[in-house]
Amino acid sequence: MDPFRNPFAPGAGSRPPELAGRDAILEMGRISCGRALNGKSARSIMLLGLRGTGKTVLLNEIGRNADSYGLLTSRVESPEGESLARLLFPEMRKVMRSLSGVEAAKHLALRGLKGLRNFASAFKLEFAGFGIGVEPDDEPGLADSGDIQYDLPDLFLLIGKATQAAGRGWLLLIDEVQYLSEADLAALIVALHRMSQEGLPVVLVGAGLPQIARLAGEAKSYAERLFQYPAVGALDPSSAAQAVQKPITDEGARIDSEALEIIVSRTQGYPFFLQEWGSVVWNRADGPEITSIDVEQSYAETLALLDEGFFKVRIDRLTKAEVQFVTAMASLGDGPYAMADIAKSMSRTLNSLGPARANIISKGMIYSTDHGFLDFSVPLFAEFMRRQRRA
Ligand SMILES: Nc1ncnc2c1ncn2[C@@H]1O[C@H](COP(=O)(O)OP(=O)(O)OP(=O)(O)O)[C@@H](O)[C@H]1O
Ligand SMILES: [Mg+2]
Repeated sequence: MDPFRNPFAPGAGSRPPELAGRDAILEMGRISCGRALNGKSARSIMLLGLRGTGKTVLLNEIGRNADSYGLLTSRVESPEGESLARLLFPEMRKVMRSLSGVEAAKHLALRGLKGLRNFASAFKLEFAGFGIGVEPDDEPGLADSGDIQYDLPDLFLLIGKATQAAGRGWLLLIDEVQYLSEADLAALIVALHRMSQEGLPVVLVGAGLPQIARLAGEAKSYAERLFQYPAVGALDPSSAAQAVQKPITDEGARIDSEALEIIVSRTQGYPFFLQEWGSVVWNRADGPEITSIDVEQSYAETLALLDEGFFKVRIDRLTKAEVQFVTAMASLGDGPYAMADIAKSMSRTLNSLGPARANIISKGMIYSTDHGFLDFSVPLFAEFMRRQRRA
């Protein structure tokens, strides 16, 4: 069928034509944002899910909704090895600057900008056009300790108060939270805790791999109460069917029920897989109805695209020794995998595998599900590894 009219959206963070099965999470976001907009403290949200399940898409959607309600919105993605101070500084400055134009908030926002200047100098942040150094009206002691756990709450407090004075709220969106250092994650939690204690309208919506819930709990025991942790997983069968069928019928084409059933069951409802297969079968089919024959004929090409794209970019980030580790995992079948079994299949001791395990976790490829157990953070990855071995 006409590729120009292909509605599907494979690719990281691409907005799907139909955001199926996520109403409850969007509603949770609406409530938190709505409370913040009314100047009330609101519960922060941490979206937890494996790779390709639609976390980034949801963050963007929650941000778009918040913009339309009039919240101040900042969005950042935490790359590996980047400090939270550097990541948040430009966003906090933007928010303070925009609030400094509001009469009721001006005083607080200007003080916030002073705090930011201290912060930049304490954390040695250098940005074009932002003079760092002591100025005559500097306020010593404001966000200048150089310890993020003290300074970030100071700044959030000023932003929160200025936002409240302006009758607005601030929504901070952070993607890939699992890449934050432990100290940075702890600082973020302390700052949000402070917001909730003071009843200030600042909300975080974060997203990342499932281990964040435990990391946050280890960083600060009260994190559990501070956040809601909705799971962003595979879609249930009827949502998965809707994700494929609705975009097709919206374009004036059709898909028969057998064809739909094959896609839904073989993708197990994983959003990245649904988009890829939908896209390939649309291009391959003669139409106007997509049949089970079209679906079967486009399967191999779909897998090849995923293998060369979605799966390959993950494994390319591993060293040779790390690849051996994940190969051993995949050879044991589907996860979760007992660490002891992996060691045994590699004829190694548990201790000697510790560093490889830690590195692969920090690269976000695997995560520990339970004490002594590991699983892939990329859905269907074990199958991909076994396909590679057969090829
Ligand atoms: N609810 C949904 N219904 C249908 N397709 C979806 C849905 N959510 C996401 N998708 C599609 O799934 C794919 C992956 O989405 P996204 O990049 O947001 O996942 P992610 O969880 O952020 O992955 P990663 O952990 O790799 O960053 C995209 O092609 C997107 O269009
Ligand atoms: Mg993402």
